Amino acid sequence: MKNEFGFKQAWAWPERVEKFFKKEIKNKKSCHVFCGSSPLGDIRIDIEDNGHLTHKADILQGLPFKDESFEVVFGDPPWHIAKHLRSKIMYEMRRICKVNGMIILNANWNPNNLRGCFLLEPIYISGGRMPFGNSAMIIRYLKIQSEKDRIIDLKNKEINDG
Ligand SMILES: C[S@@+](CC[C@H](N)C(=O)[O-])C[C@H]1O[C@@H](n2cnc3c(N)ncnc32)[C@H](O)[C@@H]1O
Repeated sequence: MKNEFGFKQAWAWPERVEKFFKKEIKNKKSCHVFCGSSPLGDIRIDIEDNGHLTHKADILQGLPFKDESFEVVFGDPPWHIAKHLRSKIMYEMRRICKVNGMIILNANWNPNNLRGCFLLEPIYISGGRMPFGNSAMIIRYLKIQSEKDRIIDLKNKEINDG
């Protein structure tokens, strides 16, 4: 079956963006989701093989890694993916990220409130710097709460809310 979000060459990161991420992941255990044609990251995941992946997986079905496995989880999801699927992507990226680790996203949407994480400054990339004329942001989150503590918090909230 054809993947409607399958890789297109026009989506490949320009050198400038690759350089940015290269610096962010230096000396850190990293996982690159939606890696497309990029060789960056210790582990590289995509739903289809474009030459550099280490794991073929659909993030919407869950990734084959334990909670809190990586210091940096980063990626460039399909920008037009449906809103309800955006949260699914973000939850999975958060799940495999260690506490005090970073989740970095390159998208034209902002996953406004990622629980257990602290939003660091969004970095705007002007249309002119991208080869395909769109504007996007690089958004950094610092994960400050473990998966376990976040679930306990949610349960307590349910009890308090009745
Ligand atoms: C915007 S492209 C990423 C391009 C990449 N930054 C590069 O430099 O080549 C998005 C990628 O997400 C992959 N993808 C789409 N849906 C996916 C899913 N459910 N799980 C994992 N990868 C997916 C596509 O195959 C595509 O390679």
